[in-house]
Amino acid sequence: YHPFPVNDNGHLEIGGIDTVQLAEKYGTPLYVYDVSIIRQNARDFVNTFQNLGVKAKVAYASKAFSSIAMLQVAKQENLCLDVVSEGELYTALQAGFPKERIHLHGNNKSQEEIAMAIENKIGCIVVDNFHDIKLIDALTKQNKEKIDVLMRVTPGVESHTHEYIMTGNEDSKFGFDLQNGQAEEAFKLIQNYDSIQFKGLHCHIGSQIFETEGFEIAVDMLFRELEKWKTIYNYTPEVVNLGGGFGIRYTKEDKPLPHHVYVEGLVKSVEKHTKALDMPMPEIWIEPGRAIVGNAGISLYTIGAMKDIPGVRQYISVDGGMTDNIRPALYQAKYEAVVANKANVPVSNKVSVAGKCCESGDMLIWDLDVPEVDHGDVLAVFSTGAYGYSMASHYNRIPNAAVVFVENGVDKLVVKRETYEDVVKNDLSYE
Ligand code: LLP
Repeated sequence: YHPFPVNDNGHLEIGGIDTVQLAEKYGTPLYVYDVSIIRQNARDFVNTFQNLGVKAKVAYASKAFSSIAMLQVAKQENLCLDVVSEGELYTALQAGFPKERIHLHGNNKSQEEIAMAIENKIGCIVVDNFHDIKLIDALTKQNKEKIDVLMRVTPGVESHTHEYIMTGNEDSKFGFDLQNGQAEEAFKLIQNYDSIQFKGLHCHIGSQIFETEGFEIAVDMLFRELEKWKTIYNYTPEVVNLGGGFGIRYTKEDKPLPHHVYVEGLVKSVEKHTKALDMPMPEIWIEPGRAIVGNAGISLYTIGAMKDIPGVRQYISVDGGMTDNIRPALYQAKYEAVVANKANVPVSNKVSVAGKCCESGDMLIWDLDVPEVDHGDVLAVFSTGAYGYSMASHYNRIPNAAVVFVENGVDKLVVKRETYEDVVKNDLSYE
């Protein structure tokens, strides 16, 4: 199974371009994105809200893949932007992303980050803890302008996903707990600050979620709290932000829902509660990262050394690995791949794909079905568009790979391959 077409030469194509030619032109390892898929993903979210007549904001979670070109595409698609650090905010500003559409997250925002957000008048800060609230108040006072704030809460939902990616459960470093009154305490505190325009609640329950149930439970929890706040404080939220986490397909075992089904589920459960509580419908905000870029990106590698352990396993090594895609090593994440220059040749072999880092855990795929492979073949790994480039490292002093965008038969380099000068550029001499 693979989602991209194969041309008359038997080569895999992406965005109307031969992947083998891309590998030759730009070198490997190479990240390639089909921008039309990014746009389609964005539109699937945005249009569903529009069709349902619900006021909404779709913020692209830029941690999934941030680069100037990517944020320009997000801008063109009228998305908002979720940033979680000064670096992500800086990239957004460099990309000319509209400041009022940027939202700042983070469980340990520095004074500099908050100051940068306030000075640039970004759209909203999502407060995560009491320290955030105090810093914002201190910094906005100097600025004499109010800033819109959402409060991130931890609803206590354990979505079915990997432990490291699970963020909505009670024992989490993120957000104010709903269970023990922390959120209400923060709500009361915020009311004292003229500097803060409190817009509503935020939660994010986890990542790579395949059902709507977890989101519905989270909405239930939020509204249990909001019911209390309505009764006691006569408060109704303008915004409910339900975070990201919408799953994508990495392998044929993965069964994500179409984007519109997640959105419809969210809208329905918010509507159910607002009707029951006789509240106006708030704006619904979401923050998809993976579901915007994940399936739009592939990684191209060149196959090098091979090792056959008869009766046990055949290893094939590629010229990248955990430095450009840490997800298999970190989360035991699974991927599918094809030999891009033999995409029509029937599979006949099982191999395991190793990276080139000096570490046994640097394996990209176990037990992949492939045709007979040769040195120099190009391997295309699918669905590497999210948390690949963004989590890249320099382990073994391997330079970061380049990123190419393709759209309607045109390819464009959007992140240059790092050079060895780049690798040592911050090193200072000690002799
Ligand atoms: N909003 C918040 C507050 C988040 O913490 C995240 C992800 C998102 C949105 C976007 O989630 P997405 O739609 O992309 O699932 N490195 C891990 C994923 C970590 C996600 C962290 N937060 C991975 O490679 O699977």
